[in-house]
Amino acid sequence: LSELEESKPLPIPPLLEDLDPDPNKSEFHLTAQQGTSEILNGVESETLGYNGNILGPVIRVHKGEKVKVKMKNNLDEGTTLHWHGLRVDGENDGGPHSGIMPGETWEPEFTIDQPAATLWYHPHMMEKTAKQVYEGLAGLFYIEDEVSDSLAIPKEYGVNDFPLIIQDRKMDASDNMEYSPNMKDMMMGLYGNAFLVNGAIAPYLEVPKGLVRLRILNGSNGRTYDFSLDNSQAFNQIASDGGFLEKPIEKSAVRLSPGERAEILVDFSQYETGEKISLINTDSNVYAASASNDEMDKEELMEFAVTNKESGVNEIPEQLTEIEPIEPKSAVKTREFVMMGMGTTLTINDKQMDMTRIDEEVDFNATEIWEVSNQGAGKNGGMAHPFHIHGVQFQVLDRDGNPPPANESGWKDTVLIQPKETVRLIATFKNKGVFMYHCHILEHEDAGMMGQYEVN
Ligand code: C2O
Ligand code: CU
Repeated sequence: LSELEESKPLPIPPLLEDLDPDPNKSEFHLTAQQGTSEILNGVESETLGYNGNILGPVIRVHKGEKVKVKMKNNLDEGTTLHWHGLRVDGENDGGPHSGIMPGETWEPEFTIDQPAATLWYHPHMMEKTAKQVYEGLAGLFYIEDEVSDSLAIPKEYGVNDFPLIIQDRKMDASDNMEYSPNMKDMMMGLYGNAFLVNGAIAPYLEVPKGLVRLRILNGSNGRTYDFSLDNSQAFNQIASDGGFLEKPIEKSAVRLSPGERAEILVDFSQYETGEKISLINTDSNVYAASASNDEMDKEELMEFAVTNKESGVNEIPEQLTEIEPIEPKSAVKTREFVMMGMGTTLTINDKQMDMTRIDEEVDFNATEIWEVSNQGAGKNGGMAHPFHIHGVQFQVLDRDGNPPPANESGWKDTVLIQPKETVRLIATFKNKGVFMYHCHILEHEDAGMMGQYEVN
């Protein structure tokens, strides 16, 4: 699956054109459409994309901007367009209530009111999210602000600042990429036998010498990754899901579960022109119980080929931003959420998603602590589940009573909860409407491991 001689250059999604000439406003047009993509060995797989055959363009906006989107559905089934990580009102969030029927257009509008971050967008149709994302519907959404504008970090798109959408896919015997989950995939989340980066298997990317910024999204349905470099070189994580960390965190591996993002700075200054370094996945321990079935450990995801160009950035800033901690004292309420996975029965607080039921009522502007625990059953205590909340960015207060690791000390919207673990989150609910919270293993979400809260 990874013969590098034949590997393709990393596809760089285009930046979507802003059609509004007013600098304080933007208008973006997206069309969800069917297409075909050559994933493996010359075989054309049927895929879905926004404005193309697979995946979507990068949408880049600035804090304070008023954004209008026209999203046309040219698929032969309903879809929605959800802004993962974006703080907008419920009616613009693109959850399962905002279905767009074939041939219809949906026109959300919102003002960007949160810090610089790498967010993403994807469909969120009831029971169809896993299939539609798998087939190619996903794209990145960048927010810039006065902090990202002023920091001396790589920020030239496609030059020293690169998007990496990592997804695993199950190629069948005829090298076709079709969504056909088996029972194990339904229980554990789909695990593929091939890794795609921006829609291509094991691509290569020419990188300049100096610091390079990688904005990594785990856009997989079920797999958690530990990303590292094959020569064990350390890098600096500068951002988590919802924006910059206060300070860069030096790491030799970064773990991302489905839906999570990390921005890292990799220093390629010590290499000769032509040297090659690989991005690899060193672990995917999400279901330790059946780890032996997972033949893809230490698999290569893509390769960096160092050129004789210069990135122009050689120093890592000491301070990136300031993050005001939300005081637990300011919380007016603590809610408990119990994630439970037993075979194909996947619940939160013993319930499965019901679109006609509001599970939690939250007061507008209230600060709350959400205590999320994973009480799954099964061998080795069950599997880990990534918990995602729409409509907010939260802070992780603690994991089993211990402070979170440094790279989880910033803004987050998705957090991996290990078997038998309890994680406390804190957030202020500043947007009104109906929102989802759910497991971001897409097969679990589709099976009903999701609930609704309303802010009023
Ligand atoms: Cu990334 Cu409810 O979604
Ligand atoms: Cu789950």
